[in-house]
Amino acid sequence: MKQIIIQFGGTGDLFKKKLLPAYMQLAAKGYNFSIITLGRRFSTREEFIAHLPQRPDQKFLKRLEYVQYDMKDPASLERVSSKAQQLVGDECEVEFIYYIALQPSLYEAAIRQIEQINTHMHCTVSKKIIVEKPFGFDLDTATAYNTILTSVFTNEEIYRIDHYLGKEFMQNLLIMRFHNDIIRGIWNNHFIDHIQIIFDEDLGVEERLGFYEQIGVVRDTVQNHILQVITHLTMSEPSAFTPEEISHEKLRVLRAIKPVKDFTLSRYRSLAELQGDSIRTPTYTSFKLFVDTFEFSGVPIYVRTGKMQSEGRSQIYVNFKNTMGRVLNNSRIAQNSVIITTHPEMNIDITLNMKMPNTRWETQPVRFNFNHAETFGINTPEAYEQIVEKILRSDKSLFPSMSEIQEAWRIVTPTLQGNVVETYDDHTLPASAVRLLEEDGRVWNA
Ligand code: BG6
Repeated sequence: MKQIIIQFGGTGDLFKKKLLPAYMQLAAKGYNFSIITLGRRFSTREEFIAHLPQRPDQKFLKRLEYVQYDMKDPASLERVSSKAQQLVGDECEVEFIYYIALQPSLYEAAIRQIEQINTHMHCTVSKKIIVEKPFGFDLDTATAYNTILTSVFTNEEIYRIDHYLGKEFMQNLLIMRFHNDIIRGIWNNHFIDHIQIIFDEDLGVEERLGFYEQIGVVRDTVQNHILQVITHLTMSEPSAFTPEEISHEKLRVLRAIKPVKDFTLSRYRSLAELQGDSIRTPTYTSFKLFVDTFEFSGVPIYVRTGKMQSEGRSQIYVNFKNTMGRVLNNSRIAQNSVIITTHPEMNIDITLNMKMPNTRWETQPVRFNFNHAETFGINTPEAYEQIVEKILRSDKSLFPSMSEIQEAWRIVTPTLQGNVVETYDDHTLPASAVRLLEEDGRVWNA
């Protein structure tokens, strides 16, 4: 069956940087699809193609169409419908995949338009709809969008995206935790002291300012990526590795998290200078939360994440209680940690205390390392390639459920009304993030 992707937001950053490379890889793997990209910026397909960061080869270009599209202009709809009709040709076994990569405020209008594109078809088609994160702007709008979506599409046809679920490390976290007896035994509040999640980006919002200033860091990454990471770190073992069972366990974790109270929001200086005081877009946040399940209650999870830091790094430190250091009153005995690094490359390290040579029982923490690329090679598909491949194959295993999304909105609700309390110098860590750990007598591991 031929598949036609109708890409809303086709001239945006996401399409250029993530989706186009994924589509090109999947086309090379032999998937049979065409793409109609929709955007306002360019009047012709040639202009659109000229702006792409890499020029796709001729074979791929044959699949790539462009339609200048303005939601407010009814003629645009006509153009999309006739382009779609042209691609369908005589075939009647065609599936339409509508991919919405737009501001949440435009969802409703986009869905209404999609309804009309469908009604213009003279051919029986199956359909799917893909909606990028953040799904909604808060709990109420997410619920309202879902009502609209489900009035046009069945739940089976809806794919809500969080590309972190397509990342190899997220899937690996579950394998590491549940397929290794030595880890299973210690992965709970008897042994874990606290967890640090550090997702720092070195870049600022750059050309995504228009999108980002409406959204801010919490909607951009916390409500989705960070909470999904927390579910993978703390969920109980699913009875089977099926989408339903995994989602069931993730939901139990999300329901056990209280709305976040201990948070601070900050914005980097060059953006503050650009925006002035009128728009207060948080670009960095740090907070502490607890997963109040039997296995994890009492384990603080500290999160810091945002833009314009000195180094781009994504790391999770699972720090274990240091009973021996305390019993022997020896500060040289370091706590054991499992360190999961996902950026700049994927590593899992376990630190253990080892004896230093030529000493009388002096120890030093040593890292035992698993480097994903060294072990498995560098050909692991990017997150978006895995996600889009699942969509093409109608496999719903890497998508958050609506219940997970609603719980995640509930958890971040207090932060959405929060004010930016600090302006931090570009490429420095906000002081509020440092204080968060200091107040608990701890320091960030990185
Ligand atoms: C996106 C956010 O969802 O995730 C971006 O919109 C962020 O602001 C990005 O930079 C981080 O994803 P990754 O895959 O680079 O860790």
